[in-house]
Amino acid sequence: MIVVTTFAELRQARAKLPGPVGFVPTMGYLHAGHISLVEHARRDCAGVVVSIFVNPTQFGPNEDLASYPRDLPRDLSLLEAAGVDLVWTPTPESMYPPGFQTWVEVAGLTTPLEGAQRPGHFRGVTTVVAKLFNAVGPEKAYFGQKDAQQAAVLRRMTCDLDFPIEIVVCPIMREPDGLAMSSRNTYLDPQQRQAATVLYRALSAARAAYDQGQRDAGALRRIVRETIGSEPLAKLQYVSCADFDTLEELDRIEGRALLSMAVYVGKTRLIDNFVLE
Ligand code: PAJ
Repeated sequence: MIVVTTFAELRQARAKLPGPVGFVPTMGYLHAGHISLVEHARRDCAGVVVSIFVNPTQFGPNEDLASYPRDLPRDLSLLEAAGVDLVWTPTPESMYPPGFQTWVEVAGLTTPLEGAQRPGHFRGVTTVVAKLFNAVGPEKAYFGQKDAQQAAVLRRMTCDLDFPIEIVVCPIMREPDGLAMSSRNTYLDPQQRQAATVLYRALSAARAAYDQGQRDAGALRRIVRETIGSEPLAKLQYVSCADFDTLEELDRIEGRALLSMAVYVGKTRLIDNFVLE
């Protein structure tokens, strides 16, 4: 496994990889969710590239950029064990040198849900992923359904900007008790970690109603709200039952729907979702 930092080193090492090349962008502090993306790429592609970059432009002023967990040696050994060919760890100074003033912005899809709660977040995500795509030039790129809106926004960007890259979205990896894996789970103390299972319980309760024929989106949102409300340590920020493709809120579910939410457990903000189809 080759580990590079500069653009020049990346280009040189990338040019030697056999194709097709699969790319997994990450912010590090890797867990089994990230590794599942790497394994998908490993199965599909002759060359596998992973980037580790805690992208400052996608964090709001009051978010956790400074405290975001980092452990590069551990990340590298996990990636080596997963059979990655090339790891790129760019620096913030190289990604955003003085004078930087070019941004990539997707319009409509970034308005609701995470976009409404985290102004500027998706502008940071699309800008950095466009830069990573340009530098790595993969044939395929792998993202997690955990960040459902991010996947939809990046699919839109890839199409709109004519990147010749296939976007592959992989299922959410969960802990045995259902909690979606996330680098931010490390912020939770033992009591909060237990409380955090309420997200999965809420989604499961709504899906049980859906499976029994409930198609009223408001009723499913209400089930989530009530389940989250039953956990004293959890505070619901939003719950959404939206069209899977447009992310517009639904009254009735007719096609594929995305049931998603953001919940605070203490100061930690957790997101999760189920696809209803
Ligand atoms: P990060 O949060 O490190 O996540 C990297 C990738 O792993 C994303 O595609 C995310 O959806 C996926 N992922 C995270 N948890 C997962 C889980 N439990 N199961 C499956 N996949 C999971 O998302 C980002 O970084 C950044 O926004 C990035 C795209 C790298 C741009 O900076």
